[in-house]
Amino acid sequence: MTPTILVVADPLVPEAVRARLREAVREAAPGAPLILPETDAEALERAPDAEIAAGWSLPEGFTERAPRLRWIHAFTAGVDHFVGMPGVRDGRVVLTRTVGAHTAVPEHVMALVLAFSRRLHIAIRNQIAHRWDRPSGVGGEVRGQVMGILGLGQIGRALAELAAGAGMRVIGTRRTPAPVAHVERIFPPDRLDEVLREADYVVVLLPVTPATRGLLGERELRSMKPSAVLINVARGVIVQEAALVRALREGWIAGAGLDVFQQEPLPPGHPLYALDRVIVTPHVSGITPRFFDRVAAAFCDNLRRYAAGAPLQHIVDVSRGY
Ligand SMILES: NC(=O)c1ccc[n+]([C@@H]2O[C@H](COP(=O)([O-])OP(=O)(O)OC[C@H]3O[C@@H](n4cnc5c(N)ncnc54)[C@H](OP(=O)(O)O)[C@@H]3O)[C@@H](O)[C@H]2O)c1
Repeated sequence: MTPTILVVADPLVPEAVRARLREAVREAAPGAPLILPETDAEALERAPDAEIAAGWSLPEGFTERAPRLRWIHAFTAGVDHFVGMPGVRDGRVVLTRTVGAHTAVPEHVMALVLAFSRRLHIAIRNQIAHRWDRPSGVGGEVRGQVMGILGLGQIGRALAELAAGAGMRVIGTRRTPAPVAHVERIFPPDRLDEVLREADYVVVLLPVTPATRGLLGERELRSMKPSAVLINVARGVIVQEAALVRALREGWIAGAGLDVFQQEPLPPGHPLYALDRVIVTPHVSGITPRFFDRVAAAFCDNLRRYAAGAPLQHIVDVSRGY
């Protein structure tokens, strides 16, 4: 029987992109009924029909209302908002994630690293104030500096290649100790401190799991060099934000480049907006005009496999949480 496919395309996604997504799904699974709910309420109402569901997120209570559901495909790389869903948690529903679409994230990190190195965050603030201040504009160079990547997974590895290409030395952490190209030394999670102590740029690319939620607090931030910069492009909850604000105000670290926050959108008046040693981007590090086509292609590749009874790619190991 042809599976009924339900795709929740975030209303923020431009209509042209949603149309391309619909077209790609129809091409990959011709004749399969396709449900495209416009609202969460509609997604919940149509959940009982769905055998496959895909989206950036699914509304709360979705899996409980979907007895025919066999497979969820996350358009995201991080799956923290899917792994706890009933059905996924107990293995009734297979969960796959998007790999290979977020190629802009390493570029975004390098842009932040170079911006801090060349003090562009200060230059832009000076420019807005019509201030010509050469002493505050004198930057450093990244060649020979150490990047510490926390989470050497798909994205962390691509970042290691870029950073090494820029002449940086790369160290990092991962759960399993196997070597990674362009990375000088790899530490297990319990040796995180060694990376924090040595790195000039600490980049968070970890998944959210019970072990990583709130992982970077006062003790960890104080272990970093006062000249070091923290860059978080993973998830806001991995860094304890109140401790980070203190670290920046009191100079435990030199700066922070942040794409993700505990609360998104970051509310007006939040201290992170006002600190001049912070660069805030609104959770966009993965997005480019080509991003959505890659997301659709990755889903459709798996859809063809599903239709052919072939094994799915990028299945999430729910027991480890990523
Ligand atoms: N800002 C954005 O728009 C954006 C875009 C894409 C992704 N992200 C975030 O970036 C994260 C990383 O993405 P990815 O595709 O690279 O994930 P991934 O391929 O699953 O890699 C995760 C890495 O973290 C390591 N890890 C897991 N638990 C750890 C721990 N406790 N200590 C140290 N290392 C640990 C893993 O170790 P092993 O290698 O040993 O398994 C793996 O190397 C995602 O989870 C997502 O939240 C954000």
